[in-house]
Amino acid sequence: MSTIKNILLNYPTPDRSLLLPILQDVQCSEGYIPADAVVLISDYLKIPTSKVYSVSAFYEKFRFTPGAKYAICLCNGTACHMEKSGSLIKEFEKQLGISAGQITRDKLFSLSTTPCMGACGKAPVVKINNEFHTGVTIGQVAELLNTIKNREEK
Ligand code: FES
Repeated sequence: MSTIKNILLNYPTPDRSLLLPILQDVQCSEGYIPADAVVLISDYLKIPTSKVYSVSAFYEKFRFTPGAKYAICLCNGTACHMEKSGSLIKEFEKQLGISAGQITRDKLFSLSTTPCMGACGKAPVVKINNEFHTGVTIGQVAELLNTIKNREEK
């Protein structure tokens, strides 16, 4: 839960227009939108929980149940975009066989994007669960995924 509170601290001025970026950050961090996060967001932005749910439900990329063991989140903010995060996202999609916002059949990986992770100087940034990977290249995607798959096979 402190993770959600930390996310909200990144948005010091509560404003309803922040709902989507906050939801993206939560999805990125947790791999889904937990019910208690909906309540915290609702309180913080002074938006009814029903509205937070309905906006979240409108977008396919948001889930309300834990999705995968490894939540992969790619930053697609301006700095990361300039460092070809778009190509990086495509490479993850290709290698995982899913699109951003989806989860692999074996529930090992989920893939999502978020506007900025606050590490713009080290773009492009990829977060896998709570681990940050910076300056990630397309050539490193297979290595990142294989490291996890090998760990799971042991
Ligand atoms: S734009 Fe990617 S970390 Fe800021």
